[in-house]
Amino acid sequence: MIDIHTHILPGIDDGAADMEEALDLARAAVSDGITGLIATPHHANGRYMNDAAFTRQQVELLRERLAAEQIALDLYVGQEIRVHGDMFEALSAGELTTLADSRYILLEMPSSSVPKRMLEYIHEFTIMGIRPIIAHPERNAEVVQKPSKLREMIDAGAYGQVTTHSLLGGFGKQIERSAWQLCQEGLIHTLSSDAHHVVRRGYRLQEAYKRVREELGENFEQCYKHNAEAIIGNYVFNESPVMGRTSNGKKLANLLKFFGR
Ligand SMILES: [Fe+2]
Repeated sequence: MIDIHTHILPGIDDGAADMEEALDLARAAVSDGITGLIATPHHANGRYMNDAAFTRQQVELLRERLAAEQIALDLYVGQEIRVHGDMFEALSAGELTTLADSRYILLEMPSSSVPKRMLEYIHEFTIMGIRPIIAHPERNAEVVQKPSKLREMIDAGAYGQVTTHSLLGGFGKQIERSAWQLCQEGLIHTLSSDAHHVVRRGYRLQEAYKRVREELGENFEQCYKHNAEAIIGNYVFNESPVMGRTSNGKKLANLLKFFGR
């Protein structure tokens, strides 16, 4: 399995605090069946700046330690980029990197709202041949209230990444409900842990894929897995299935009942 959104790099954001914690996270990834992960430190979120060159250097240092410790885990460069007005200047200045040097870039919106120019930004990226992946839209208050906000972004060329912990209830009932709803509506294309810490916020990737298979069907699981690999391999995404148009569609009513909708 591939995990495309993690905070494993030591001491540079609110993820692994030091090399020991980074190695703990690496070993935990291997135990969860993960063979490759993309390091996506926060960038330009008002608290952390981790530009592309620095992040690349940190990935190289951790790779060397993984080899020395004989931990069989492929590590790729990435960033979790907070959406901001100067993104395109930063991109042309080489401060931003895509995920694993692919055509996909990971964007984070503020948790309270959708930025006003979000659709314009997405459009601009797609013109440049870059496809934005929206990190955990289920944790954005405006998307929770109005999933059509995310649909507009997907229609403009973006993709959605749901977080394992959201699906598994780690962020509370409302976010759990929103996460499943976005999946059912075909607005989610890939699944990732957004791991920060082995104990406080680990992977749960296998567990989440199992739940996706049980609740939504194997075609959702396969789609999310395929797309995580498509990022590493830099090939095209599969479109997400939509619940109700799947072999597992009959389960939708039960699931909605479960969430009291
Ligand atoms: Fe993150």
